[in-house]
Amino acid sequence: MVKVTVLGAAGGIGQPLSLLLKLNPKVDELSLFDVVNVPGVGADLSHISTDAKTDSFLPSSKEDKTALGNALKGSNLVVIPAGVPRKPGMTRDDLFNINASIVRDLSQGIAENAPDALVLVISNPVNSTVPIVAETLKKNGVFNPKKLFGVTTLDIVRANTFLAELFPSEAKPTDFNVRVVGGHSGETIVPLYSVGESKKLYEKLSAEKKKELIHRVQFGGDEVVQAKNGAGSATLSMAYAGYKLAEAIITAQSSSSVVECTFLNLDSSIKGAAEAKKLVKDLDYFSFPVKIGPNGIEEIKYDILNEATEEKQLLDVAIDQLTKNIEKGVAFIKK
Ligand code: NAD
Ligand code: LMR
Repeated sequence: MVKVTVLGAAGGIGQPLSLLLKLNPKVDELSLFDVVNVPGVGADLSHISTDAKTDSFLPSSKEDKTALGNALKGSNLVVIPAGVPRKPGMTRDDLFNINASIVRDLSQGIAENAPDALVLVISNPVNSTVPIVAETLKKNGVFNPKKLFGVTTLDIVRANTFLAELFPSEAKPTDFNVRVVGGHSGETIVPLYSVGESKKLYEKLSAEKKKELIHRVQFGGDEVVQAKNGAGSATLSMAYAGYKLAEAIITAQSSSSVVECTFLNLDSSIKGAAEAKKLVKDLDYFSFPVKIGPNGIEEIKYDILNEATEEKQLLDVAIDQLTKNIEKGVAFIKK
């Protein structure tokens, strides 16, 4: 029995992501929660003739916690795309003041109603919202670091697409699965093109072209924000990326483990965390490839950082910036 709950299901990401989840034959129940418009989204999706039973939950007032509780009860997987998106000229960190409280309140609901669920955090700024979820769950005594995933998959999707675009007659985006480590904002995003399937083509690029490509991945979100011109940020590509990680986790519930990158808490209870922490100057959170099984993250594949000697400088910059982003999230809950 797989029950997936989407918090922020009526939004730009929430709607297409819920549609993709509704199409997954392994999802038995799809639970949709939002503070606006969610009954319509739920009714619409419920007409699709797939097996996932769809229900929607709208709070009757700001004080109503029952709707969130009912949406969450019995969930195996909770995906959070709730919160405001950027407008041109804003950084992801500019969203902190609004989104931090939204994510804190939703995490409190998870702690009270679905403490064993796997949780995927999409809401920005991911580098700070993931620590906010972790600290809230800790405060409630229900934090399991193996079950918390910061969604950085869109950076991987972009890294694959943008490299293939440079070699139209030689490659397709599906030829690669570029490992992207670090965080999810500007220079904290580090695509490791010099290792794995991407290496052969990447080495054909001049130093200048490599720099341009990395910059495009790090600031890919800005391209969409500017093109949407005030109407928000990436939604369709994000729904695809968020679904990709959710699907991998759903698949890992019933079959062999899969490896995906995610922004995670480097807690010592996870295999490979001690080694991973050493490589990132003792940071508490970082995006690494991880092995995923039925109960969440089984192992951190940290060795990739030893192989990526070409990206050493980029990693140093990412680690510096991440320190502040993580501290900001932790401090928000601790204060
Ligand atoms: P949106 O405004 O279209 O949708 C957000 C939804 O969240 C709305 O339906 C809103 O009603 C809902 N919401 C607000 N407060 C809520 C609450 N307390 N409980 C439940 N729902 C609530 O925005 P969007 O384009 O879907 O983006 C959502 C978030 O995802 C933004 O923070 C954006 O920056 C982030 N994002 C992250 C990535 C990533 O790679 N991790 C990529 C794209 C966007
Ligand atoms: C993205 O990478 O597209 C998202 O984080 C949204 C944004 O603000 O750019």
